[in-house]
Amino acid sequence: MHRLEEIWLGLSAGILILFMVIVGYQTFALGMGPPSNKENIDPEQVDQTAPFDNPGVKKVGENEYEVVMTLQAFGFTPSDIEVPAGAEVTFTMTSKDVVHGFQVAGTNINAMVMPGHIQEITHTFDEPGEYLVLCNEYCGAGHQLMSTTITVK
Ligand code: CUA
Repeated sequence: MHRLEEIWLGLSAGILILFMVIVGYQTFALGMGPPSNKENIDPEQVDQTAPFDNPGVKKVGENEYEVVMTLQAFGFTPSDIEVPAGAEVTFTMTSKDVVHGFQVAGTNINAMVMPGHIQEITHTFDEPGEYLVLCNEYCGAGHQLMSTTITVK
C-alpha cells in the first residue's frame, strides 16, 4: 500500500475513534444521553399503572402543568387539550400498543412514544393559539387520522 494511503486511512480511523470517545464520554460520564426516556412500564397494564390510570391535564405548580397522555391506535388520550400561555407543560406519555409519534407543529416537540417506555417532554407555549399534534410514526391503517390539538390561551 502506498505510504500516503496508509497515513490517510490511519487519520480516518483515528477521527472515528476520537468522535466515539467524545460521544461516549458525554453520554455516560456527563449524562448527556437522550433525556426523554425516563423509565419502563408494562405495556399490557397501562390502564392500571399510575399515572396512566388517570390521564388528563393536571396543575402541578404555580405555573406548571402535567399532561398525562396515552397514545393508541389511532388517537391521543386526552385529546383537544387546553393549557395557559406561558405555563411550563410537561407531557408524560406512553403507548398502549405500537410505536407512535408526538409532534407538535410549530414547536420543537417531536417524540417517539414506544410501548413499554415512558416519555417525558417539557415545553412552554409562549404564543397563544391552536397547535396541531400529529403522530409521525406509521402505526397502522388509521395513522393519517391520528391527530389532535393543543389550545393555548
Ligand atoms: Cu399513531 Cu401513526
